[in-house]
Amino acid sequence: MSRLPIRLYGDPVLRTRTREVSEVDDGLREFADVIRETMVEADGAGLAANQVGDLRRIIVVNIGENDTTDDVRVLVNPEITAREGTMKIVEGCLSLPGIEEEVERTARISVSYMNLDGETEKVEVSGLQSAIIQHEIDHLDGVLFIDRISPVRRKFLRGALKKISRGSKQPA
Ligand code: CO
Repeated sequence: MSRLPIRLYGDPVLRTRTREVSEVDDGLREFADVIRETMVEADGAGLAANQVGDLRRIIVVNIGENDTTDDVRVLVNPEITAREGTMKIVEGCLSLPGIEEEVERTARISVSYMNLDGETEKVEVSGLQSAIIQHEIDHLDGVLFIDRISPVRRKFLRGALKKISRGSKQPA
């Protein structure tokens, strides 16, 4: 199975809003396999299509209760339909290697999405799984988790971000 290179902070595709998928077809299912494999190989908990340079509204998330790959799902056109409570959680991102920061997120969410058979499904998650899905949906809107930290923390990270950004411009 093939994998795709993960785009790093500084690549404009990470700031680009993705487009709704109108239909699930074989081409999309093939892409789903690739993005799923890319996330698992990178040891990530989630990955959004634009992180591999694709502008379809698709995310892959590992929402298993254990830190394994026991519930890896591909969510097409994911949408948060209900929110409850807030929490603080430390996040990282495959596009921002080496950076971990505390972010405030909604504690419990309901998410509706299209599965790979083109059917609408719904999932309710809390805690880490909820943060993962919110983080990935943010990606689809061109938003990164460092946008959700304090200006003081962001300033503190400036050097590290610059370094990643330089790396993003090197040919893969
Ligand atoms: Co990320």
